[in-house]
Amino acid sequence: MTKPVRAIQARIDQLRERFAALGQAHVFAAWDRLDTADRQALLDQAAGLEPHLEELLKAERDAVAALSSARSDVLEPVDAVVLPEHGGDPARREAGRTRGEAIQAEGRVAAFVVAGGQGTRLGYPGPKGGFPIGPVTDRCLFELLGLKLRGLSRRSGCPIPWYVMTSEATDAATRALFEKSAYFGLPPEDVFIFPQDMVPAFDFDSRLLMATPGRIFESPNGHGGSLTALDSSGALRDMERRGVDTIFYYQVDNPLVKIADPVYLGLHDEARAEMSCKVIRKRDPDAKWGVVARINGRIGIVEYTELDDEHRHLRDADGELVYWAGSPAIHILSTDFVRRVAANASTILPFHASRKVVPHVDSDGRAVQPTEPNGIKLERFVFDALPAAERVCIVEASAPEEFSPVKNAEGPESPAMARCDLMAVYRRWLEAAGLELPEDRLVEIDHSRIDGPEEAAAVGLKSLAEASDFIRVAPGTRA
Ligand code: UTP
Repeated sequence: MTKPVRAIQARIDQLRERFAALGQAHVFAAWDRLDTADRQALLDQAAGLEPHLEELLKAERDAVAALSSARSDVLEPVDAVVLPEHGGDPARREAGRTRGEAIQAEGRVAAFVVAGGQGTRLGYPGPKGGFPIGPVTDRCLFELLGLKLRGLSRRSGCPIPWYVMTSEATDAATRALFEKSAYFGLPPEDVFIFPQDMVPAFDFDSRLLMATPGRIFESPNGHGGSLTALDSSGALRDMERRGVDTIFYYQVDNPLVKIADPVYLGLHDEARAEMSCKVIRKRDPDAKWGVVARINGRIGIVEYTELDDEHRHLRDADGELVYWAGSPAIHILSTDFVRRVAANASTILPFHASRKVVPHVDSDGRAVQPTEPNGIKLERFVFDALPAAERVCIVEASAPEEFSPVKNAEGPESPAMARCDLMAVYRRWLEAAGLELPEDRLVEIDHSRIDGPEEAAAVGLKSLAEASDFIRVAPGTRA
């Protein structure tokens, strides 16, 4: 053997020994059957994983143990800046708006969409951001969100940089979509696409599952992985270079999101909050949203599945749910806070385990398609950062105006519901402009041209026909 070949062999042996010592010898079980390219790919993957493997195995054990340990958290409801129709002070919101618009115009704000999830419930063959959502145009979620950003930049006179987090599952297709669509009319230099980390899955004996004989199964490490990826990808440095100190975080699947809502930005800034939450009023105790609450004295989010019946149904003297503050996962974070969270991720953002169906190959290299959960997937949650924030500002949003996520192919939280909710918003804008739209029409408005009822009214249209390119109407009653 020549010297370099000996060195490579030594590295292979070292990796195999390390994996074997940690109970993962099976990762290399098919080594002798792999061709050169597959061997190299497996080596690269194993070498990337090796420095974290011990920590990951511990995280997996802890997360699995947490699944079966009863929690005894002390919960208290939170104070929020509520909507005027629920007793909130309209002047406070207006002051927030003025402040938020100023922050935006100073170029301090970035939009950050997380789009690394696999969208399994929706079952769309491609990144969820490419899903056609426009009720008339079928434009995709990314395009709709991009048009909103163009509208915002136009209004504030200042480009808003867009950070788009993908994952190995969605990265290539997302980049191709942005390229093909000419970045939806946004300046490409203001769009920063980066992938989150992946994390392996385990069987119920803490053994790594294999996707193929030469590949360890991995999936995206949860939306909480966005906070470390912002740092490791260089996105935070890019923000610093631009003078951005405020990150508006949202999910790719909510077409109603008010990106960089100035009221919310202003209230967050006034409170000198490190991380903020929008909340929506839960009327149905069984609505499957996590709720923002004080957990053992710190603000956090209690997942729907972890809110016991007693708390879930608890009502105040007015008959309102005490734990009403549902989370639509719309946050504002300061860049300094994200830096701190990323530096302390192993404590602030623990992995959570869930039992999932994980297709894989067995030790003989045969494909296995389980019908019951057979594996443990690990994920980090973005809201786990909340208790680490020194100050948190909680602002009520109106659900029908701002939240209608696309999660399921049909039924609640489906594309059909989201299109209906979008059209209801557009109809209200048209009403504000004094424009009449017959019931049997579908409607869609281009956010880059009109973004809100005030703008719709200000355009001064006498009829819909005058706006055929940016207010699209088509026959139909259902999206
Ligand atoms: P969900 O938890 O709803 O997951 O993500 P999902 O991938 O969209 O759908 P299911 O659960 O597989 O059906 C909420 C948001 O967080 C992002 C998603 O892209 C979505 O915008 N996300 C989720 C990530 O960016 N990375 C992840 O690892 C998980």
